[in-house]
Amino acid sequence: MPALGKYEHEHTKRWSEQVAGSSAVVILTPEYNWGYPASVKNAVDYLYKEWKDKPALLISYGGGGGKRCYEQLLQVLGRVGMQLAETRVNIALRDAYGDDDRLKDAAAIVDRESDVLIKAWQELQALIANKDEL
Ligand SMILES: Cc1cc2nc3c(=O)[nH]c(=O)nc-3n(C[C@H](O)[C@H](O)[C@H](O)COP(=O)(O)O)c2cc1C
Repeated sequence: MPALGKYEHEHTKRWSEQVAGSSAVVILTPEYNWGYPASVKNAVDYLYKEWKDKPALLISYGGGGGKRCYEQLLQVLGRVGMQLAETRVNIALRDAYGDDDRLKDAAAIVDRESDVLIKAWQELQALIANKDEL
């Protein structure tokens, strides 16, 4: 159990060092059938104490923006004690793909979402600053 902190695999130890040494994390998840992928859950579940009070920003994306998986993931991230930026970032990609299945204009999507992204980013900075003061 990661909560016991006895990590055996090198990849877990590397992941632990990476998260422990970061002032914050940004979690970006796609949504599939209203859920988040197992890879995202594994990334969380492989560690435990490293997440406690970690300033974090959660961003979902998908055809409809991934609001359902965002909600589900909030519960999980709350369980491990992350401090989340309050602003919800759900990036809707409907109509954003071209015939080649690639995003037609990624910069335009970032531009469209810039207000909410900047607000969320500022909240994350504030969480980092608060933690540094303690
Ligand atoms: C099997 C499948 C289920 C999906 N379900 C949802 C969904 O429930 N909500 C949503 O917003 N988008 C949904 N999408 C759209 C994906 O979120 C979107 O294609 C996204 O770009 C996938 O991320 P990826 O390109 O990193 O794989 C689904 C796509 C697939 C392939």
